[in-house]
Amino acid sequence: MNVLVTGGAGLIGMALRERLKAAGHCVTAVDVTDFGRGDTELKIVALTDRVALETLIELDNIDAIIHCGAISGPMMAKGQPLLLVDVNINGTAVLLDLARVHNMARFVFCSSISVYGDVGPATITEDTPLRPTSVYGATKVACEQLIQGFASEYGLEGVSLRIGRVYGPYRRANCYLGSIIRDAAAGRTTEIPCEPDFVYHYLHVDDAADALIAALVAKTLPAREYNVGSGEALTMPQIAAIAKAGIAGASIALVPGADDVPDVQTAFDISKIGRDLGWQPKLRLDAGLKSYRAAIEAGKAAN
Ligand SMILES: NC(=O)c1ccc[n+]([C@@H]2O[C@H](COP(=O)([O-])OP(=O)(O)OC[C@H]3O[C@@H](n4cnc5c(N)ncnc54)[C@H](O)[C@@H]3O)[C@@H](O)[C@H]2O)c1
Repeated sequence: MNVLVTGGAGLIGMALRERLKAAGHCVTAVDVTDFGRGDTELKIVALTDRVALETLIELDNIDAIIHCGAISGPMMAKGQPLLLVDVNINGTAVLLDLARVHNMARFVFCSSISVYGDVGPATITEDTPLRPTSVYGATKVACEQLIQGFASEYGLEGVSLRIGRVYGPYRRANCYLGSIIRDAAAGRTTEIPCEPDFVYHYLHVDDAADALIAALVAKTLPAREYNVGSGEALTMPQIAAIAKAGIAGASIALVPGADDVPDVQTAFDISKIGRDLGWQPKLRLDAGLKSYRAAIEAGKAAN
């Protein structure tokens, strides 16, 4: 397919571009910046620039969009809620309308586990009520609703993947896993503030990209929303033990404190996307950390 990837310079976008090309798709990647990488294959376009996006869509005969561009977490653009609304909601609306006008075959959206908010001990399925605890999470809910609306009113084949915490090369936001790897190489101890029982749902970026591709190529979409995670629910003491066993020189000090996304999300059910779209995560945390370390050593780091 001829696929437009937004957020093409980001964590998920970079992995997705590679994996789409390896699968034989033609990729047109856009972002507002290439972060100084000299990325000649990336087009610099803002998400809300309808004219520039439409020109590219026509030029490259785009027949599907995978929308990864966004202000990408509740920890980003703090104190600027209207910027989040503009980039995340208006940017998505522009792309949905372009997908409608150009009769695209598929619109795949990076939603987030943040749509659920603070759930507590209950298992999170796609039917769990959406109660975001951040403006970021609320923008994801709004975009999912827009996708629903475009699907029922205009027949647009849209789908939202509710993705857990993603780690891997080119991540720019704070990530303890990246810090552990970099600190180990530099002979430093990584200090991690955490509550010992708080559960994390980390997902390697290659698995996230493959889930998006599964949603792109699926013949039918039995549902509009799918949870996407690694299937591993791990506390920070468990994560630290895995990291120490797999990363030479890893030294981790857990200190009392809260995570920067403190929603309690204990169990995350990812069975539906497996049943409907045939996607399964491939990288457990121990393998994912080794892959991430190799990528950092190869210079594939964001900062
Ligand atoms: N990383 C995670 O843990 C995670 C988890 C769940 C969902 N998501 C979602 O997945 C998507 C991709 O996330 P990511 O981790 O790759 O984030 P990222 O920040 O690495 O990538 C997002 C990209 O969007 C671009 N962007 C921001 N504002 C823009 C604008 N106005 N116009 C054009 N481009 C703009 C950024 O430059 C960036 O390269 C986002 O929608 C994010 O909300 C991420």
